[in-house]
Amino acid sequence: MIRVADLAFRYRPDSDELFNGLTYTFQPGLLTAVTGASGRGKSTLLYVLGLMLSPSGGTVIVDGVDTRGLSDAHKSDLRARRIGFVFQDSALDPTRTLLESVIEPALYAGRTRRDAISPARVLLNRMGVEHRIDQRPGQISGGQAQRVALCRALINEPAMLLADEPTGNLDRVSAEGVISVLREASRNASVIIATHDPFVLEHVDEVLAL
Ligand SMILES: Nc1ncnc2c1ncn2[C@@H]1O[C@H](COP(=O)(O)OP(=O)(O)OP(=O)(O)O)[C@@H](O)[C@H]1O
Ligand SMILES: [Mg+2]
Repeated sequence: MIRVADLAFRYRPDSDELFNGLTYTFQPGLLTAVTGASGRGKSTLLYVLGLMLSPSGGTVIVDGVDTRGLSDAHKSDLRARRIGFVFQDSALDPTRTLLESVIEPALYAGRTRRDAISPARVLLNRMGVEHRIDQRPGQISGGQAQRVALCRALINEPAMLLADEPTGNLDRVSAEGVISVLREASRNASVIIATHDPFVLEHVDEVLAL
């Protein structure tokens, strides 16, 4: 479970404060959408929840552990084992094949390549990009890259899945595929989606408006 208490964040001492002391619990088993106009801090909230940015006020609590006092190494470890992240721009490594990109987090978490290949293929297949696995990000569309990034985020069966505009580049049928995978992931995870997409909003359990 992931919780924030009295959360505030500033990029710089002189920039606007985001989140206004937000206190919120993201329940396991639920899909939660984070909404709000462009610039309200949806992506930033995901980075803070993903322990990539540290709050300037308040705290993030992961599985009951207050992350405020944790070392960077401990945070990286929590991130690798518990958190899956899909960036707004996919952020896939251009030098790796898609299959390698999906497998990589499993290797960080201590699994062997052999153990990771079959679940990676299952995920890529469900996302409709299995025939592309030996290609590289420059050879696929933005929407396909987003789906590969989602596979990468899911390979370790994270307890928290953070997805930034995961349907941003997708047609309706592909968006349905993404929602169904997110829904399935939410059986064992808190799934948190930054989105403007009305189609996604129809399918989530909770909406957190920033
Ligand atoms: N690296 C950064 N350094 C300084 N300010 C930043 C940085 N990234 C974002 N900001 C600012 O922080 C605020 C929140 O940005 P953020 O990207 O979280 O918004 P968002 O709600 O995700 O917007 P969008 O819907 O356009 O993706 C904005 O005012 C933005 O200009
Ligand atoms: Mg954003």
